[in-house]
Amino acid sequence: MEIHFTHSESVVFEKISQVAANLNMPCYLIGGFVRDKIIGRPVKDADIVCIGDGIALANAYADSLHPRPTVAFFKNFGTAQIKLPDLEIEFVGARKESYHQHSRKPDVEVGTIEDDQNRRDFTINALAVSLNPEDYGTLVDPFGGQKAIQDKVIVTPLEPVRTFSDDPLRMLRAIRFATQLGFKIEAGTFAAIGQNVHRMKIVSQERITDELNKIMLCPKPSVGWDLLYQSGLLKQIFPQMVDLHGAVYIDGKGHKDNFYHTLQVLDNIAEHTDSLWLRWAALLHDIGKPATKKFEEGHGWTFHGHEVVGARMVPKIFARLKLPLHDPMKYVQKLVLLHLRPISLTKENITDSAVRRLIFDAGDDIDDLMTLCAADITSKNKLKVKRFLQNFEMVKERMQVVEASDRIRNWQPPITGELVMETFGLTPGRNVGVIKDAIREAILDGIIPNQYEAAYRFMLEKAAELGLKPVK
Ligand code: CTP
Repeated sequence: MEIHFTHSESVVFEKISQVAANLNMPCYLIGGFVRDKIIGRPVKDADIVCIGDGIALANAYADSLHPRPTVAFFKNFGTAQIKLPDLEIEFVGARKESYHQHSRKPDVEVGTIEDDQNRRDFTINALAVSLNPEDYGTLVDPFGGQKAIQDKVIVTPLEPVRTFSDDPLRMLRAIRFATQLGFKIEAGTFAAIGQNVHRMKIVSQERITDELNKIMLCPKPSVGWDLLYQSGLLKQIFPQMVDLHGAVYIDGKGHKDNFYHTLQVLDNIAEHTDSLWLRWAALLHDIGKPATKKFEEGHGWTFHGHEVVGARMVPKIFARLKLPLHDPMKYVQKLVLLHLRPISLTKENITDSAVRRLIFDAGDDIDDLMTLCAADITSKNKLKVKRFLQNFEMVKERMQVVEASDRIRNWQPPITGELVMETFGLTPGRNVGVIKDAIREAILDGIIPNQYEAAYRFMLEKAAELGLKPVK
């Protein structure tokens, strides 16, 4: 099997090959670069493993270039990194590792290329390509990584329990690669994840969440979340999601399984947006359902207020997962809170005032809210879906008309607090807020248009009710 390098990659690797040969140091391309080349995915970084001192090789390679690039090195890990314009290269000496029970930090010894391939997570990531003059470009594949790529299988090179116990983050990586590449996890490897779930305790939350975000950005993120559930990992890392699972039946009446409904909404939205946070909003939109679930006699299952309860859960979930607590959290929280509103508009006789209030409450996130809401329509009944989507289009059109005339979206009050104070000789205080709120409510209710003159007249009336008179 020949790996095809681009011209600029060939220039880089041939030079590294020469420099390494001068140092008498065998070296190989390894890991994700080789995997992605075979699959045909774009590559941006290349790992080079050498039998010797990786930092020395990186320095010798840098010396051979004009101008000399910077070599960033980490003495403790024996790794060095060089950033070329379109490729980042990492150099490391081949290692043999042994891990401790309570830490992801291994003891490291110098090893052979085979030792180094042994200690890697999956056979698809343990492929190497020789950069040695005698067999330059040859694939070194002791574990059948190439076949695993052909068969689309994720499997560990060693006994899976050992590979996962060495570094439990790999359990999440298995699921992430399966989701990214559309590969299956080999049965024994998957079973070993189930047996090592408790080992996730030693992995930092940042690394876990990094993998979750990578799953979220896949074309079909449901694959990853379902594997997380099936393996038992989800219970350990995100139990609130597991609470969504299952459907209870009373008097023959059931409700839909909110876990799989959520995953379908997530896949639906993934077809329309690459935004990580809009995808998180889809994942969390029904998270308040388990806490609000009730069976009402003669009526069936209800989840009243689940959007409010769900919105309240969002900050806690973001804190636990160490997701950013400011803008993205507030955004997700707002979408969870409002996710029923556009649909409720399709059910009633739509009034302009309800449309205005929705645009006001959603602000600049109204388009994202509409995207979420459309993704939330998941009935199996095609006719029902069609009817819903048609109504939904009507709401959208109505929104456009209302927005064109009333400009509610980026709400700027037509009368400022300063003007209220100036007009009635007030200092900051309760009455200023009362008048401003009354003007806003009158505009949203359609009593007055969103215009300065009308709002000014309304202000005078409202102030008179409060016993206030203009000072001039
Ligand atoms: N690796 C491993 N165990 C880990 C992380 C990494 O064995 N927990 C090995 C794999 O051989 C992997 C290589 O180190 O191919 C490089 O790791 P990394 O850059 O994290 O992953 P890639 O495989 O390059 O893929 P991606 O960039 O998508 O994470």
